Amino acid sequence: MAVLAGCQQETEQETKSDMVDSQPQQEQVVKADNTNNKKAHNPIDDHTYGNLHEVDLKHLELDLTVDFEAKSLEGFVDLSFDRLKDDVNELVLDTRDIDVSKVELNQDGQWVSGKFELADKDEVMGSKLTVKLEAGVNKVRVHYATQPQASGLQWLTPEQTAGKKHPFMYSQAQAIHARSFLPVQDSPAVRITYNATIRTPKELLAVMSAFNEPDTELDGEYHFEMPQAIPTYLIAIGVGDLDFKAMSDRTGVYAEPAILDSAVAEFDDTEDMVKVTEELYGPYRWGRYDLLILPPAFPYGGMENPRLSFITPTVIAGDKSLVSLIAHELAHSWSGNLVTNATWHDFWLNEGFTSYVENRIMEELFGRERALMEQSLAVQDLRQAVQDLPEKYTVLNVDLDGADPDDAFSTVPYTKGQMFLVWLEEKFGREVFDKFLVGHFNDHAFQSITTQQFEAYLKKNLLDKHPGVVSEEEIHTWIHEPMLPDMMPNPKSGAFNTVDAKTKQLLLGEITLDQLGTQQWTVHEWLHFLNNLPTDMSADDMMTMDATFKLTESTNNEIAHAWLLLSLKAGYEVVLPRLENYLITIGRRKLIVPLYKQLMETEQGAEFAKRVYQVARPGYHPLAQATLDEVVK
Ligand code: BES
Ligand code: ZN
Repeated sequence: MAVLAGCQQETEQETKSDMVDSQPQQEQVVKADNTNNKKAHNPIDDHTYGNLHEVDLKHLELDLTVDFEAKSLEGFVDLSFDRLKDDVNELVLDTRDIDVSKVELNQDGQWVSGKFELADKDEVMGSKLTVKLEAGVNKVRVHYATQPQASGLQWLTPEQTAGKKHPFMYSQAQAIHARSFLPVQDSPAVRITYNATIRTPKELLAVMSAFNEPDTELDGEYHFEMPQAIPTYLIAIGVGDLDFKAMSDRTGVYAEPAILDSAVAEFDDTEDMVKVTEELYGPYRWGRYDLLILPPAFPYGGMENPRLSFITPTVIAGDKSLVSLIAHELAHSWSGNLVTNATWHDFWLNEGFTSYVENRIMEELFGRERALMEQSLAVQDLRQAVQDLPEKYTVLNVDLDGADPDDAFSTVPYTKGQMFLVWLEEKFGREVFDKFLVGHFNDHAFQSITTQQFEAYLKKNLLDKHPGVVSEEEIHTWIHEPMLPDMMPNPKSGAFNTVDAKTKQLLLGEITLDQLGTQQWTVHEWLHFLNNLPTDMSADDMMTMDATFKLTESTNNEIAHAWLLLSLKAGYEVVLPRLENYLITIGRRKLIVPLYKQLMETEQGAEFAKRVYQVARPGYHPLAQATLDEVVK
């Protein structure tokens, strides 16, 4: 049932035909080109109901109270916009599981009551909110409250935090979850600035993807300003018992007191990362760069919220072995946040470029060998992943065909995208390619672009300037064909070759475990070793290896993941208590989903998975719950 308010009723039909049939205006930066999307809801971005071609959203003012009892954000948002046509009579917004109590229109500086309609919920898109506009109105206020199951928020109990004393709440808006905590035209093609007032319990601190004052006083009322135009999936908030520690003049860490020092020690290369990225790709344009360390339930490794990356604590390994994650989220300050995918079909423009830049940062700071090892591990993952994916999801410019972008999430846009750029770099040479990339970031700064726009830019600024180096067919194959092209680079690490040779000798019985040379191995060599062992190792062999290397007890979450997965494949049951603890304390999908999947392969494993999942599920983020509900059945 549609919820109606105000007196004038408008049918679904009228609204829909009005939006779908209209073509985008000339003024619009983003051109309509989703011709491959059969179920296009919208000519610009088919994952929004927003009337982007009629209304250009400019600025948001948020006033929200964080209610931990009700698990709700409650208050209002003012949306300011320009009209792109004379006869625009409505503002269409996205919402999901949001209660709208009242809408007001700003008429000559006065707030007057407005009419709105909240449509039935679509499982992927949420509920369209249509606000009637009167003549001359360019600002609308929506009073609302979020529901406890908001897909873009996680409400954590004190037990789920490091300190165990205070609750914690954070948002994760990418890809289409901003609409679950904010009525907005929720599209990466839309760029807005925002201000916010956030009210919290007095003892807690709120931080946002905006300017955060490093020495904010704890008083339960916090003000934020994001003066640069960002896409809506980058609006973010975190609230908890947070302390701040500076790492340099412009970088610092927000974390719970119990983990602040270890986080600072782990990530103290952040300033150097910013510096080398600036040297490679031009100035960091966002002012401060801080990190917010979330509780382990965070379903991702990291999220590039501008000025404040959100980071999983599972990468605090004690030896900086997993800091490529920081390089990655920082890299998004150029690829993603500055130059943004216009639709979720263009997601590879965000993640492929970012994975490439991430690896260049790692090379600058930690050397070519480490960068190659990380490339090699990623490519091995990619080759594995494409075997299990629906073929259509192995295309860079993916056809989502009405699906939730989360459902198509895979390593393809990341590593296939990265390898495309590595290939271009090899073909044109680093000097030429670097110049091209700098041009791309500058020419598209603060814009949202489509794959087609990028292809035209690539042709004009790289291919046509250096004719005969690569063909347009090759570019087309990379971007539009499924699977992995034969021309894909195959990154080779010398260190990994040595590990391979030793492993071969070990498996032939020519050397013993202590002759493997593991004393000098880095975390990456360990991962390569574990990922490439045969999966039919005997339980005895696993036991011997465990006794020698204490892998079940590894505190490195990536090594533990690889070891637990191998153990399940080999039927080595000694790890089960460790596995149970791992699954209950970590909510990062990349680390836990493959383990649950492997468990479900055997009857005994499935039983174990179901039992553990029952305990672990309440602690997982709604996204992880949704993924795992499908796996653990
Ligand atoms: N932006 C992504 C996370 C994301 C993608 C959230 C799509 C929601 C939808 C972030 O930058 C990312 O890629 N994180 C990776 C880590 C990275 C080192 C590959 C992750 O979380 O695993
Ligand atoms: Zn990313």
